[in-house]
Amino acid sequence: MAYNMKTHHCGELRKSDIAQSITLSGWVHRRRDHGGLIFIDLRDIGGITQLVFDPNVEQKSHKLAHQLRSEWVLQVKGTVIPRSEGMQNPKMKTGDIEIKVEHLEIFSQAKTPPFSICDEEEVREDLKLKYRYLDLRRGPLLHNLRMRHKVMLNVRNFLSDLSFYEVTTPILSKSTPEGARDYLVPSRIHPGTFYALPQSPQMFKQLLMIGGLNRYFQICSCFRDEDLRADRQPEFSQIDIEMSFDTIENLFAIIESLFQSIYSSCVDKTIQAPFKHLSYETCMESYGTDKPDLRIPIKLHRVNDIAQRSSFSVFLDQLKMGGCIKGMRVPQGADLSRKKIDEHTQFVSQFGVKGLAWMKFQNGKLNSSIVKFFDETLQKELINLFEMEENDLLFFVADQESRVNQALDQLRRHIAKERGLIKTEQDAFLWVTDFPLFVRGDNGELEACHHPFTCPHPEDMELLDSKPHQTRSLSYDLVLNGYEIASGSQRIHDSKIQEKIFSLLKLSKSEIKEKFGSFVEALEFGTPPHLGIALGLDRMLMILLDTENIKDVIAFPKTQKASDLMLDSPSDVDLSQLNELKIDIRNEGA
Ligand code: AMO
Ligand code: AMP
Repeated sequence: MAYNMKTHHCGELRKSDIAQSITLSGWVHRRRDHGGLIFIDLRDIGGITQLVFDPNVEQKSHKLAHQLRSEWVLQVKGTVIPRSEGMQNPKMKTGDIEIKVEHLEIFSQAKTPPFSICDEEEVREDLKLKYRYLDLRRGPLLHNLRMRHKVMLNVRNFLSDLSFYEVTTPILSKSTPEGARDYLVPSRIHPGTFYALPQSPQMFKQLLMIGGLNRYFQICSCFRDEDLRADRQPEFSQIDIEMSFDTIENLFAIIESLFQSIYSSCVDKTIQAPFKHLSYETCMESYGTDKPDLRIPIKLHRVNDIAQRSSFSVFLDQLKMGGCIKGMRVPQGADLSRKKIDEHTQFVSQFGVKGLAWMKFQNGKLNSSIVKFFDETLQKELINLFEMEENDLLFFVADQESRVNQALDQLRRHIAKERGLIKTEQDAFLWVTDFPLFVRGDNGELEACHHPFTCPHPEDMELLDSKPHQTRSLSYDLVLNGYEIASGSQRIHDSKIQEKIFSLLKLSKSEIKEKFGSFVEALEFGTPPHLGIALGLDRMLMILLDTENIKDVIAFPKTQKASDLMLDSPSDVDLSQLNELKIDIRNEGA
């Protein structure tokens, strides 16, 4: 590959290039001025090469080189020479050679950067975000961006080969039914009205199916105004997919092959397919969450039945109040000290549960202060149920089911991390299926669990009238190492069923029209059976790149408070702009 201002990248030259005349361009990474010889490490996207300025080779360049400082941008022309004996650096790819500089041109000078680019010193996150372009120069982020590109290219090629067409859908859009808050954009031409930025292209992709496209995909930006976490950004990317006249089995097979292709071409790993499947109900029962990390060899077990026959009042009281009791085994956890157990008790208390009961299995027997409340038969049952081995530990939580699940899910992840129980050799993919169609909102009313276009499970159609909250849906999530990385569903293609769902959601005709516009009308013009999925590109990359921070895989991310510290956004706008939009800012404090 020819570049006009360089013959090679800075990481490219090797012993085999010795005696070649070359041109390099890049940034001053480090400089060592020995008075006579001046050494500069020159850096670009390809790596680092050592330059030597020798007054006996070229006086002018040597003189100029005295002025060079970190991060100045240069071009040098010179000859590749071997490093002198003992000066080789085996840690560097270019460590056997250096460049005898014959000509130096300085493209630009640099102010002293707010943090060192060449050292790996810890830098405050806000400072790194403010000077993101300098943080990019430090290397690891550039590597991540190149991986992001590779994955996107792979996805595009893979899906195109299967006759999926990438279609760009609008950004100035209308509120979409994903359940977060919208980002709104005021319209100047229609004062007082607003576009919404898409939380996903959900309606557009379904309309493309109604429009006859057959197979659609798009790597698209989605915008959600929600509370941020380590794996959430207000602006993130989805690999959005929709297909018609096809089945869930085929969609799963396509997604599994897509992951096999990404893993083999981007991280050189083989993954096994088909992926495991678990129903939502089984997931909640055995892991307390709908996104279990299956690399952790710990399962939860409900012990209501055993607890009912015990004389432990804490458990009996919870059962009386309609609560439940679940436990988990910590392999070889009997070494946990009282202090550590107290710490874990404190840890689970943040999820609202009032205690953490425990038993150790040592010398073939269970022991702890509560074992006396369980007779020998019950103890045997516990040992069998949890498949206890010598020196294992049991933890129990008794409370309302949702709290028990949350507390034990979190404790399971926490302990697995702390005790190195996560089997990291193999990534764990899991399809979670049969989600409920509805969840209960704060006031007990039904809300769509996924979105209102999700098809009810055909076996549960009659429940829609009698027990709607028990209806399952044809929706699915893909979980990878405990992260929800994709989500989708079979859609409703029968407008009668769609109407029924809207009526269960207590949406009036005018609300439906206002919320979903002509989408609902479109369903009445001949809708093919269709289904789809959206993969969270950023979360996938977090896992491929082994980072727990979503900001590491996004070129210009926002802070936890949804700010862009580099461009200082969101920011005030000119009064004239507001006037044009007929918007008054209310001063809440006044
Ligand atoms: P859903 O809302 O589940 O489904 O989103 C799909 C996937 O997008 C990722 N994701 C996020 N990633 C980073 N930051 C966020 N704030 C964020 N929110 C979601 C997750 C998630 O699994 N239209 C439907 C899909 C469909 O039915 O086809 C949708 O958007 O990995
Ligand atoms: P107490 O009788 O309150 O001293 O509790 C005895 C043990 O039961 C302690 O280890 C507590 O942490 C535990 N415990 C108390 N409440 C609960 C609960 N809701 N679930 C699980 N364990 C509990």
